[in-house]
Amino acid sequence: MSTASSPASPQPAGRRSLGLRGADAPPARRPDSFYEAIGGEPTFRRIVHRFYEQVATDDIMFPMYPEPEDLGPAEERLRMFLEQYWGGPTTYSDTRGHPRLRMRHAPYPVTPTARDRWLKLMTVAVKEAGLAPLHEATLLDYLERAAFSLVNTAEPGGPQ
Ligand code: HEM
Repeated sequence: MSTASSPASPQPAGRRSLGLRGADAPPARRPDSFYEAIGGEPTFRRIVHRFYEQVATDDIMFPMYPEPEDLGPAEERLRMFLEQYWGGPTTYSDTRGHPRLRMRHAPYPVTPTARDRWLKLMTVAVKEAGLAPLHEATLLDYLERAAFSLVNTAEPGGPQ
């Protein structure tokens, strides 16, 4: 009998929360997780590192970072979050608490343009990881929905 707590969210299986609200206790670590299926920590490291390599030279993303001289900690936080979300270690919540990603992004102007750039860089990183087509599609679908959900401001000078 598993001791894993059942999800607090009433959402149907396969439609877990994006990590943005209170009802998204991380799933227990499972050997059959998506995290394990795509190769575990090395795969997440590779994807997030490649993403941050691009951030470092990106005209929209780079200026948003509060500590641009060292993107390493930001890279680690994103990796830990994604690993946890997909059934890997819960180090993110153990060290940072509840994700509350919308709240944590409130200080940054996530415009539709920033969202699209974030997604563009992340898509490159995911595609270069060479995942199985269904895994790649699953991950990109999640990342797209997560990015859309984090938009918190209109374009400067755009319609109110
Ligand atoms: C939509 C466009 C996005 C922009 C412009 C953006 C930008 C940022 C910025 C500037 C930070 C601060 C980094 C720092 O603390 O040094 C951050 C943190 C973070 N972002 Fe994003 N982000 C975006 C989307 C996402 C998405 C889709 C996810 C998850 C799937 C995500 C997960 C995180 C996490 C986990 C952190 C660290 C939070 C913490 O402090 O624990 N972000 N993001």
